[in-house]
Amino acid sequence: MASHLDGLESRFEQSIADIMGQMHKALKPLTHRSSVSRVSPAARALFIVGQPIDVTRSPMDFPQALTRLKDRKASCKDADSVLLPLDVPPKGLDALVNGLAQTTNCDGLIVTRPHKESILRSCTHLTAAARAVGCCNVVRFHKGAMIGTNMDGDGFVGGLIQQRGANAVRNQRCLLVGAGGAARAVAYGLVQNGARSVCVVNRTKARAQALAARIPGVRALDALPSSLNDVDLLIQCTSLGHNASDPDPVPRDLLRPPLVCCEVVHTPEETAFLRAARERGCDTHAGTHMLSAQLDAICEFLVARPEDWPDAWAFSSTSRVAEVS
Ligand SMILES: NC(=O)c1ccc[n+]([C@@H]2O[C@H](COP(=O)([O-])OP(=O)(O)OC[C@H]3O[C@@H](n4cnc5c(N)ncnc54)[C@H](OP(=O)(O)O)[C@@H]3O)[C@@H](O)[C@H]2O)c1
Repeated sequence: MASHLDGLESRFEQSIADIMGQMHKALKPLTHRSSVSRVSPAARALFIVGQPIDVTRSPMDFPQALTRLKDRKASCKDADSVLLPLDVPPKGLDALVNGLAQTTNCDGLIVTRPHKESILRSCTHLTAAARAVGCCNVVRFHKGAMIGTNMDGDGFVGGLIQQRGANAVRNQRCLLVGAGGAARAVAYGLVQNGARSVCVVNRTKARAQALAARIPGVRALDALPSSLNDVDLLIQCTSLGHNASDPDPVPRDLLRPPLVCCEVVHTPEETAFLRAARERGCDTHAGTHMLSAQLDAICEFLVARPEDWPDAWAFSSTSRVAEVS
């Protein structure tokens, strides 16, 4: 009888342990999501500003990016920062940014649509990437300075290297479709990282020409070539692909191996362009890689001390104000 009860007891303990294990697994992501409700009073505040803002995933993903930063950078191991979304209409941007810059516990902002260009007028300092691309998606407040940068190019290249290895960009022949802000940043990132050639084609030709004039090393094409045999990386940089009804950014019959088809649109994760490329046998690279690689860089830019930043993030003064003291 005793040994029978012992057996029951150990099976019961095992079941409880299994249930606890499953609960722990299920609650783990919720713990990240609800971390905002347990912000410590000493936490450093960061905001993501845009409109609409409820489409952004960054506040949900930021805690993991901060954990990765603490693990890889000893000087950040005690960092305690929280990222919150702010829905900001264009007319409210300047006053908000100038007000936040005067607080003593806000370290900066992630900047998203529609403010990536208008934020430039608030910046006292810019990195080379922000100057080249002509828009900012991160601003760091530091000793009275507002340092703007653009991480989209680093994010795209970093994501591609993570997925496809260290030589994913060097010496590659690249063709970008689209010539908006994302395309400018991706083109800059590709040139900086040793692409053999970078061409751009866009529905509005003048915009492709302006991109090429702005970023040395980029050539504008009047139209898509009739064959992409001379292209290694095809990068879809238009805003097409969010909706199932969007037209194809590139005719499907041009998509043939060994072309690598890359996307900047991240929602849905597999756009119609990527699906068509995959079905036609091409390697594909989703826009979600760019998003997660750049969140790591953004987190470091907003949390690490500027003295500890990599050289590529060197910044110089705009005409607006002040040197960093
Ligand atoms: N994965 C990431 O981390 C990440 C980062 C940044 C942006 N993005 C995504 O990148 C996309 C582009 O953003 P953006 O800031 O570059 O936008 P943008 O500045 O508004 O540029 C939009 C581009 O799409 C083209 N386009 C729009 N509708 C078109 C159509 N019907 N046919 C052909 N071309 C069309 C535009 O061509 P025209 O010049 O002819 O109008 C332009 O080249 C967005 O979906 C954004 O979500 C992703």
